[in-house]
Amino acid sequence: MKHRHIGIKHQKMLVTEIRSTTYVLLSSARIRLSVNRIRQPTNMALKQTVLVIIVSVFVYKLTGVFIANTFDGSELIGKNIIITGASSGIGEQLAYQYVRYGANIFITARRERRLQEVIEKCRSLGTSKQKYGFLSADMGKVEDRGKVIETAMEFFGDIDQLILNHAILPPVFKWSGTPEQLEHLHVTLNVNMVSFVHLTAAALSSLRRTSGSVCVVGSGSGKIPTPFALEYTASKFALDGFFSGLRYELKTAKENVSITHCFLGYISTEAGCKSFDKIMSMYESPNKFLIDHLQPGKPEDAAQAIISATTRRLGELYFPSYQMIWLTSVIRSIFSDSDSLFSMEFAKDK
Ligand SMILES: NC(=O)c1ccc[n+]([C@@H]2O[C@H](COP(=O)([O-])OP(=O)(O)OC[C@H]3O[C@@H](n4cnc5c(N)ncnc54)[C@H](OP(=O)(O)O)[C@@H]3O)[C@@H](O)[C@H]2O)c1
Repeated sequence: MKHRHIGIKHQKMLVTEIRSTTYVLLSSARIRLSVNRIRQPTNMALKQTVLVIIVSVFVYKLTGVFIANTFDGSELIGKNIIITGASSGIGEQLAYQYVRYGANIFITARRERRLQEVIEKCRSLGTSKQKYGFLSADMGKVEDRGKVIETAMEFFGDIDQLILNHAILPPVFKWSGTPEQLEHLHVTLNVNMVSFVHLTAAALSSLRRTSGSVCVVGSGSGKIPTPFALEYTASKFALDGFFSGLRYELKTAKENVSITHCFLGYISTEAGCKSFDKIMSMYESPNKFLIDHLQPGKPEDAAQAIISATTRRLGELYFPSYQMIWLTSVIRSIFSDSDSLFSMEFAKDK
């Protein structure tokens, strides 16, 4: 067991080393590319782009395999975890997996009955020593946000990980700026983004005491715009702006609170499948290749990846790796006209 831990520690350092080296290489390659795009013929820039893409995918996949192999979750035994949006989908799976790792959980969402059912299943998966709490709360209401953090702390003490997972998934429509759409924009930004900030603010002093972690469950739509789901896309982009900035501020102030932003691709939750189908139906000649070949990730695998990334205090997670969100977002930042996840050629209204 001891040997295994030494091995894991060593592998973790190796992974961190590979990741930071890749990051530096990529950043310098990206700067060179931007310069080249101005100075050199497009052909040259294109070749370099292809090279960077191939090398990045290779290294990213390699480190991904290392990461998956080195996480055993032993550090989660007895830790106190808050999970929002845990009444269904990925949040529900997060609750089950944290309990399997021996953590204490406090879950929240609006549907009380569903929360009770999730807690019952958690009890059957965990031990009598673990703690299982829940509170029904609406993240659209400012007062409920503070109540969730307060009640959780009364229940199990200081917080080790705050998993911000709840969201209004996209009601799909073409944006035309009607009063209803404007009102809904406000609601979506409030639930999907502002409430994340409020919850983090309320939990921060506790997280400082535990050198804890915040996990932001975001979306590929927060890196690559998704047509017909603009409010959702806007709320997920806003999360990146705020939490990347906060991560920097915490780091420079030498505060030991980590922030992990998870950019998820298409995951086969009930809500995720519904949204994907609706978005696809908005296209005149749907991208059949994409529909047939875009294999959704499983909610339980997404939960596993989120827990591993948060516990390892990684800055970002892109899951599933084969959906290439990271790569697509890099391409988007190089070629400004590759602006949408689903090429605009397919859109009804160009
Ligand atoms: N599935 C995908 O393809 C996909 C892709 C990218 C990112 N994601 C992200 O993954 C996360 C989970 O999504 P999911 O697919 O698991 O969807 P889901 O099953 O619909 O989960 C959303 C959760 O948020 C809760 N919620 C919604 N509005 C709330 C409110 N006003 N107050 C409190 N809780 C609220 C819901 O519970 P109640 O209704 O009981 O309140 C539910 O538990 C979301 O952040 C989503 O953006 C999902």
